[in-house]
Amino acid sequence: MINIAVLGYGTVGSGVVEVINTNHDSINKKAGEEINIKYVLDLRDFPGDPVQEKIVHDFETVINDPEIKIIVEVLGGIEPAYSFVKRALESGRSVCTSNKELVAKHGVELLEIARSKDINFLFEASCGGGIPIIRPLNSSLTADEIDEITGILNGTTNYIMTKMSADGSDFDEVLKDAQEKGYAERNPEADVEGYDACRKIAILSSLAFGRFVDYEDVYTEGITKITADDIKYAKKMGTSIKLLATSKKVGDGFYAMVSPVMIDGSNPLFSVNGVFNAIFVHGNVLGDAMFYGSGAGKLPTASAVVADVVDAAKHLNRNIMMNWSSKKLELMDISQVEERFFVRMKGSVAADGQKVKELFGDAAFVEVDDLEGEFAFVTGVMTEAAYQEKAQHADGIISMIRARF
Ligand code: HSE
Repeated sequence: MINIAVLGYGTVGSGVVEVINTNHDSINKKAGEEINIKYVLDLRDFPGDPVQEKIVHDFETVINDPEIKIIVEVLGGIEPAYSFVKRALESGRSVCTSNKELVAKHGVELLEIARSKDINFLFEASCGGGIPIIRPLNSSLTADEIDEITGILNGTTNYIMTKMSADGSDFDEVLKDAQEKGYAERNPEADVEGYDACRKIAILSSLAFGRFVDYEDVYTEGITKITADDIKYAKKMGTSIKLLATSKKVGDGFYAMVSPVMIDGSNPLFSVNGVFNAIFVHGNVLGDAMFYGSGAGKLPTASAVVADVVDAAKHLNRNIMMNWSSKKLELMDISQVEERFFVRMKGSVAADGQKVKELFGDAAFVEVDDLEGEFAFVTGVMTEAAYQEKAQHADGIISMIRARF
């Protein structure tokens, strides 16, 4: 029997307990031993819940029990999660976590401790919820040099963008509705400003490129400035606007960014709607691969955490090598990244189209009937720096969204 402790009985923690109870027999068979939840650490009590008999309030109870071999950290946030996880690893316990803030900020150090102790720090659930992506990057795609990852890595924002597109509603209206339905957090900043996706793409890039990508180096823009009028243009053009997290090798350099991007039906991420996530990966010998599924929520996330527990149980005293070195990957400045740009501008194609062409070169124009006094155009491919330079000389730009089609 392998005794484990679960730190946190919130949404994911209760999911972990439920998954282990529901699939007890098959999980034990796959782990090769019975997985027994000995403790659940939480500040609260849960009278009437069968978990109550396992509830402890003090981390010392967990860490001082030599029977505990694996610790599940699903508290979220940096503290006390970081202190608990570090102590757990230093004491020779493997840790499985869904905590993307923790992995993005302290992953290098925690992986190093796990390596030195011949145990494991596993974090499948930190990116893409229930979608297997960490293990594929670490174990299945090892024959490839990965040169691009582009993902819809945040369910909340994908739900908002999908709903804005379906209903023609504005951002604030859809966010309020999503909060009322419990899809969006009361404090949605990390999701809507792109910070959550930023941490996830930093984790995936570190694994894919084998060097540590600091999330603070990732250029990040959220969806708060996207309007119902932007969606009208997108619809007219047969495109959709998604919050994409991308990291890509260009020549000898790498860039990483999170921003809203206009894509068309030829992009495999075009049809990823609602709270679903998807991660597109390109390898130099594999070509394209796409991972799609439930990117958030209690049971999908718990499914990934418990799969890590099974892996940790199968490798109790053996470190599973992770292709994530402590050497930092210096990212290219975003100004050198090449994109097309969808630009809304005051005026009309008839009056201003020629000026736009002179300034931006070849441009594809679009007008929407009920948007008077403005038009839009999509530029050819140019660097961010070139776009910014041209935009400074243009009068009446309303907004810009990157376009990949
Ligand atoms: N807030 C996150 C999302 C939860 O909406 O995707 C999963 O990490």
